[in-house]
Amino acid sequence: MPFQNVTPDRLNLFQRIRYSIFPGTYNGKIDRERYRNLFNSLVFHLRPRVVPQRTLRFTLTWGLGGMAAVLVGMLIATGLMLKFAYQPVPDRAYESILHLQNSVFFGQFIRNIHHWSGNTVLLVIFLHFLRVLFTGAIHPPRQFNWIIGLTMFFLVLGSNFTGYLLPWDQLAFWAVTICTGMLEYLPGIGEWLQKLIQGGSEIGPATLSNFFAIHTAVIPACLVILMPFHFWRVRKSGGLVIPRTPDEKPVDRGQLVATIPNLILRELVVAAALIAFIMLLSVIFNAPLEAKANPGLSPNPTKAPWYFAGLQEMLLHFHPLFAVMIIPFIIVGALVFLPYVRYDTDTAGVWFASYRGRRMAIVSAAVAMVATPLGIIADEFVIDFTAWMPALPAAVSNGLLPAVLVLAGVIGFYWLMKKKYTATNNEAIQSVFVLLLVAFIILTITCIWFRGTGMALMWPWEMGAAMP
Ligand code: HEM
Repeated sequence: MPFQNVTPDRLNLFQRIRYSIFPGTYNGKIDRERYRNLFNSLVFHLRPRVVPQRTLRFTLTWGLGGMAAVLVGMLIATGLMLKFAYQPVPDRAYESILHLQNSVFFGQFIRNIHHWSGNTVLLVIFLHFLRVLFTGAIHPPRQFNWIIGLTMFFLVLGSNFTGYLLPWDQLAFWAVTICTGMLEYLPGIGEWLQKLIQGGSEIGPATLSNFFAIHTAVIPACLVILMPFHFWRVRKSGGLVIPRTPDEKPVDRGQLVATIPNLILRELVVAAALIAFIMLLSVIFNAPLEAKANPGLSPNPTKAPWYFAGLQEMLLHFHPLFAVMIIPFIIVGALVFLPYVRYDTDTAGVWFASYRGRRMAIVSAAVAMVATPLGIIADEFVIDFTAWMPALPAAVSNGLLPAVLVLAGVIGFYWLMKKKYTATNNEAIQSVFVLLLVAFIILTITCIWFRGTGMALMWPWEMGAAMP
């Protein structure tokens, strides 16, 4: 019997509670039709009723944006649980983690899930960022969503970094010391910024409580606001880019299919597989925990967390002013303005812009794979501008000079690629991006696996180094 015919006061307590949640549902018996409608209307607050069939292709999104959202959800859920056991003061932080792992029911497992979700989300967001860029999803009307995405990327980086300190073990303490130490080199504001972040001139109780507040309140709150904004912008842009081959002209939305079950089922499968993967990782590998932080005993080598290893490697080749300020600022600035460049063609939906764009990307990656290790080795064993030009200040001989040489190389590369392939500016800019991207990945790998005692270059098997 449909519920409309029944007055609420004739229902039992359980039915009245259910009525207050789902008014107008049913009378006692499960009315699947009504539940389905309720579920659908919930989904339709977040998703359109129909989506273009082409955008369901797994090879368009690889499910990466959805995975990032699931991982952020898992981080918030497990983070809330960890808050019950964790104490953010140097005297208690390490012990509270030990207590969580050894005495709290499923404590180690929850910590592992939080750890692996945090590391995986960075990787997933990075891949999502690449897929958005390489499918031309930065062209109008999606420019601003790119900016929101970039902001979330930096927030997630900040979240990983602030969380890194919380266990207060040797790994955490010294990795964070290295990173906040990099700020010192920013002219004018460096020392002030370092003191602000550390809550004093060195890492101590104030740093831990600042990091704890940023990690558990400020960043999650920003993400919770920005994520729905990001999804809403996707809808406002008319949904995802429509994938097409390089030969096809920009296509319209084509055939539309119902979001439920077509999109939702796919999203649920990806989410379930991802959760299973994180659970498996968490069962097999424990989150690292070294000895309690000892400010008087720094490990050698002291390395930054893996996501900042590329920056740490740059510090070995450029004056800090250039390694941690000028070069990263130029790159971040370029990323922010990337969608606002006037492009020759609208490549939205085409992987790597065109067939030629694909070939150029492969060539750029190959050039970076050869040039970067050669550059690292040359700088380590041959080039020494500081010794060759002792009269110049170090910021010039070891900063400006190599930076100008690298910049000249990059501009030359752009010009050469554009000329050789008679390329559009989309394709040439993409080549430069691939060149720098692969170079940065090689710098990161070098720092993680090829730097040993005293940060000297060596083979991984010579040092038995663990990943930071
Ligand atoms: C917490 C981080 C993020 C989450 C949860 C997230 C989530 C999503 C989701 C669910 C979508 C829809 C489809 C998909 O690609 O899976 C999407 C699309 C998009 N994202 Fe993100 N994203 C994040 C970070 C980023 C970053 C770092 C960027 C780039 C800098 C970015 C730029 C975009 C753009 C431009 C679209 C529209 C793509 C299109 O129309 O094809 N997002 N994002």
